[in-house]
Amino acid sequence: MLTPEGLKPGWLMPFGHAPRYCVGAMLALSEMKTFLALLLRGYDFACDADTTWAPGALGKVPRNGLPMQISRKV
Ligand code: HEM
Repeated sequence: MLTPEGLKPGWLMPFGHAPRYCVGAMLALSEMKTFLALLLRGYDFACDADTTWAPGALGKVPRNGLPMQISRKV
């Protein structure tokens, strides 16, 4: 859920920090982009465009959690 209640300490540092910073971070980010591109090529994504927004830690968050419908492209 994209809600402030779901935030935990360290959530902005998924790969750690300083001397223990993840050595695979760049590979992991590259893999995520490749996977996202494959998903976008094969599926359509739709969410509620009429949702309202509330202030969050770094910007606005959708009040309804912004559920998404995913359907295979024909
Ligand atoms: C989404 C994917 C990944 C996440 C979220 C992630 C997260 C992390 C985090 C938080 C740490 C720090 C652990 C600590 O402070 O003790 C870490 C360390 C490390 N990660 Fe990753 N990692 C990911 C992918 C990878 C990949 C793909 C590789 C290798 C190909 C990798 C190799 C390592 C290594 C070797 C360390 C130890 C670095 C050190 O202590 O010097 N990680 N990772």
